[in-house]
Amino acid sequence: MAKSTITYVCTDCGGETLRWAGQCPHCQAWNTLQEFHVRKASRDSKARPLQPARAVPLSEISAEDAPRTRLAWGELNRVLGGGIVPGSLALIAGEPGVGKSTLLMHAAAQVAASGTVLYVSGEESGQQVRMRAQRLSAIAPSILLLAENDLDVICEAIRGELPRLAIIDSIQTVTDPGLEGSAGSVTQVRESAARLMRLAKEIGVPIFLVGHVTKDGSIAGPRVLEHIVDTVLYLEGDRRQELRILRATKNRFGSAEEIGVFAMGEAGLEEVTDPSAAILATSAQAAPGTAIVAVLEGTRPLLVEVQSLVNKTHNTVVRRIANGFDVNRLHMIVAVLEKRLERSYGTSDIFVSVAGGIRITEPAADLGLALSIVSNENNRPMPDGLLVVGELGLSGEVRRVGHLERRLQEAARHGLTRALIPAGSKAGRPSGLEVVEVRTVAEAVSAAFPTQIRSGAFIKEAGISVS
Ligand code: TYD
Ligand code: MG
Repeated sequence: MAKSTITYVCTDCGGETLRWAGQCPHCQAWNTLQEFHVRKASRDSKARPLQPARAVPLSEISAEDAPRTRLAWGELNRVLGGGIVPGSLALIAGEPGVGKSTLLMHAAAQVAASGTVLYVSGEESGQQVRMRAQRLSAIAPSILLLAENDLDVICEAIRGELPRLAIIDSIQTVTDPGLEGSAGSVTQVRESAARLMRLAKEIGVPIFLVGHVTKDGSIAGPRVLEHIVDTVLYLEGDRRQELRILRATKNRFGSAEEIGVFAMGEAGLEEVTDPSAAILATSAQAAPGTAIVAVLEGTRPLLVEVQSLVNKTHNTVVRRIANGFDVNRLHMIVAVLEKRLERSYGTSDIFVSVAGGIRITEPAADLGLALSIVSNENNRPMPDGLLVVGELGLSGEVRRVGHLERRLQEAARHGLTRALIPAGSKAGRPSGLEVVEVRTVAEAVSAAFPTQIRSGAFIKEAGISVS
């Protein structure tokens, strides 16, 4: 066994520290530091450089992209930055049960059309993997299965087969016999991934690693691996719902902002090439408290439905619960509504949720969420076919957002007829979409609800008499 020294690695943020402590000095999480045995490099270590070091003039290095293996699904290609790069190491992370193995089996079937795929399963038996593949219609003679945990055996198999793609499901079940620690420990996970990275680069075989995201301290989370791998893709989604989003958070070979959208069904996943349509199809028509907003994911606009429920409560402490939306942002929006519209939510619970399991991270949805709260509170639906775009400032002003034109085009394409947008936006106006510019949240309320909502400063501000 190789000699090692010990450092401590945080399973939450991947930060390293020399001394053990109850709290991670980098991310301040508690009880997340785990022993990490650093292997001392020896002469015969597997870590020796692949080729003797030689500096070359920058101008002599080829600028051409390595030929990528393209998959049948455009949604997958998009997140990968245009296909699978030979010799790359990608981490596909997500909660247990979200669909990682399913997604990778689909990917295997698509690559198998042009070469062998080695699927290494450390979690399931060959029979279980076959049953899933059968359900996905992904059985091909060129998909080879290896049910194995031993990293030495796995590396040998990859070297021997030189597949078009190797999949390791999952990195937490792999153990390097030359290392201390059990499967899933920080030492094992990090060192195994580093060894697979060297192998991938050496023989040019792309490797996909599955990584489970879990809060359990005994298993090293994917965070520990993010620095090592080339690409990190998170598979997100509510297990009880259909939509799954594959989000790139790091990509050495493409944009790290792209998402791919899929739907889980009886026969596995399907790509969703028009996510706005899929999301709008499930939306409750004109119910009080729903609003349609346009968020940008990477280069791509998405129409998303946000919902609010404002409910009087007799409890002394009111609740603010946000699903798919930042709860602090919700607090801010509620405060702006209270101050600028002279409303009071001090005795109401407010729940907000984003349809389809989407997570909104953009302030461009602020105004839509604000209007959905007003709509539910007054039991007045928003008009059909209305898009609401705008960031909300603390004084109730509606701020401009980036790429407005793309958002409006997406709305027009999906048959929306009217859009409330921040005043002064210079975006082109797609035909078929009536655009109303609003300067404040008060103006937005009067524009969204054609007949008045009783009392409040916004009515005075908008110059409408109080009924
Ligand atoms: P899986 O890919 O095993 O998840 P992970 O590898 O991320 O742990 O898939 C998990 C869920 O997907 C499982 O609860 C059942 C569901 N599923 C379907 O709904 N349809 C299918 O065709 C398949 C294969 C799975
Ligand atoms: Mg799995």
